[in-house]
Amino acid sequence: MSAFAPCAVVEGGPADLDRVMRVMEDSFDPCFGEAWTAAQFAGMMPLPGIWLSLAKQDDKVIGFGLGRSVLDEAELLLLAVNRDSQHQGIGRSLLNHFVDTATQRGASKLHLEVRDGNPALKLYNAAGFVEAGRRWKYYVGRDGQVYDAVTLEKRIGS
Ligand SMILES: CC(C)(COP(=O)(O)OP(=O)(O)OC[C@H]1O[C@@H](n2cnc3c(N)ncnc32)[C@H](O)[C@@H]1OP(=O)(O)O)[C@@H](O)C(=O)NCCC(=O)NCCS
Repeated sequence: MSAFAPCAVVEGGPADLDRVMRVMEDSFDPCFGEAWTAAQFAGMMPLPGIWLSLAKQDDKVIGFGLGRSVLDEAELLLLAVNRDSQHQGIGRSLLNHFVDTATQRGASKLHLEVRDGNPALKLYNAAGFVEAGRRWKYYVGRDGQVYDAVTLEKRIGS
């Protein structure tokens, strides 16, 4: 039995921008330049095929996932969980929710991009995402260090 408080994954929307940005700022290490700005996030929300999933505990947003589907493809654009709520399976719940929602929307090819070395790679690999390509030196850290972006893919129903 889990000792952690229960967490629900629910649909979010543009009105959740501030709550999402609080998680964004708490979770992403600013060293790597992976987090989005509020303007980037707000600009993405109205686009066709976008959906936002929120992980809530006692009505507090502690994590989120942002997905986009186009025809038979879906992309996980962002996944984040507040630091003090990590390692409780919430990221995995949000990822499972992304896979389920993408499948319901008719996607059979799922993909995402992540900085090489991001511990989230372990989570994605465990969920069946495998490396499909790389963008060399895509991320530039605050200290000037460069990191590849790894593209991961998962096929549904094959
Ligand atoms: C990636 C992230 C969302 C994972 O959230 P989480 O709630 O901690 O994930 P889970 O508890 O479901 O982790 C599931 C498993 O994935 C692996 N994992 C996840 N995060 C890990 C980490 N930081 N270090 C090592 N393994 C990790 C582990 O196997 C973990 O199981 P365990 O910790 O119980 O042993 C969270 O670390 C985060 O917000 N990171 C900053 C934002 C980011 O880099 N997002 C990914 C790119 S968009």
